[in-house]
Amino acid sequence: MVREAFELSPASVVEGKDGYDHFMLKEIHEQPEALRRTLNGYIKDGLVDLSDLEINELFDGIKKIYIVGCGTAYHAGLVGRRAIEKLAKIPVEIDIASEFCYRDIPWGTDELMIIISQSGETADTLAAMREAKKFGTRVLAVTNVVDSTIAREADKVIYTQAGPEVSIASTKAYTCQLAIMYLLAFNLAHQRGTWDEQELRQMGNDLVNMDLNIETALGQEPRIKKIAQRYYQVENTFFLGRGFDAAVAMEGALKLKETSYIHAEAYPTGELKHGPIALITEGVPVLTAITQESLVERSISNLKEIKARGGVIIAVCTENLKEECQVCDEIIPIPAVNPILTPIVTVVPLQLFAYYMAVTRGNNVDQPRNLTKAVTVE
Ligand code: F6R
Repeated sequence: MVREAFELSPASVVEGKDGYDHFMLKEIHEQPEALRRTLNGYIKDGLVDLSDLEINELFDGIKKIYIVGCGTAYHAGLVGRRAIEKLAKIPVEIDIASEFCYRDIPWGTDELMIIISQSGETADTLAAMREAKKFGTRVLAVTNVVDSTIAREADKVIYTQAGPEVSIASTKAYTCQLAIMYLLAFNLAHQRGTWDEQELRQMGNDLVNMDLNIETALGQEPRIKKIAQRYYQVENTFFLGRGFDAAVAMEGALKLKETSYIHAEAYPTGELKHGPIALITEGVPVLTAITQESLVERSISNLKEIKARGGVIIAVCTENLKEECQVCDEIIPIPAVNPILTPIVTVVPLQLFAYYMAVTRGNNVDQPRNLTKAVTVE
């Protein structure tokens, strides 16, 4: 049984903002519900069951996975790569769709491509998918729009159930794409016996409960609004993270750029010292995610280097790591969830930060300049 997904039709676009000032804020707040819908029916007793989708044969004998997308969808893929490699032990390559076609990939026969696209119409992503299909590669699409071109041309589809996303800056589609990445990683790990079953059950149950953790993170909105009102006039920012946090940092930076027009560069925390630290001067805000206990010590020593150069550190950190984050100027706490699942929660304060920076600057946050919802040219 394939469940119905949402079509972005003119009728749905005129849906109201439900009392929110902007669609972006409404859609940020819709994330708990969107996540519930996306996961609905796929986790039974903690274990993932995708049998309704009849996609399991796509993964038979697969030795390598390519994940491809653009922008936010690509960022969801970065998290997917880490989850699949860690849990299912399958090598994953990830690429930006617009670059994918310029590679001369020595395709093998035991490979699968996972295409991620909210709209299902992005020209670069579609071109990458067609390139892979030329070589007989199996393609699984993750998209939000039923009967979109990508959905039609892929071998199989998993629909995110985000509902219509009207704001150009993608928010709820991203968290739903993450949910699908986890479903695939857990499913593969279970089928291949690469991760302890009890732990997979626990993680499956934790994933089901992530809606509550997103709600808790949304509770930080007043604090985030105040932080944005303090820093909205800056012109340059950095976003840092290690491991899963590095992937989320990239998404946080993209949200800030596109809505507030503030220059935002994302780097893996460890990379900063290899050049970009030259740009850290008095008052430059550095946003960082600190959610990985095993990596916190190294990150904090990097943050001290930033502090010593006058940078202002704004940290989204899990409750259990608050003590370690005392070096930071502003702390936005989020619930301490399983470190593999943190991206779903960590991104929420970063979305709110981008939103409030943009509206405080007086920008048209739902329709930022130069951007469209679906980029249908290569
Ligand atoms: C950012 C954003 C874009 C899209 C990208 C891919 O907020 O919305 O970066 O993620 O253009 O679009 P889809 O997912 O429709 O292929």
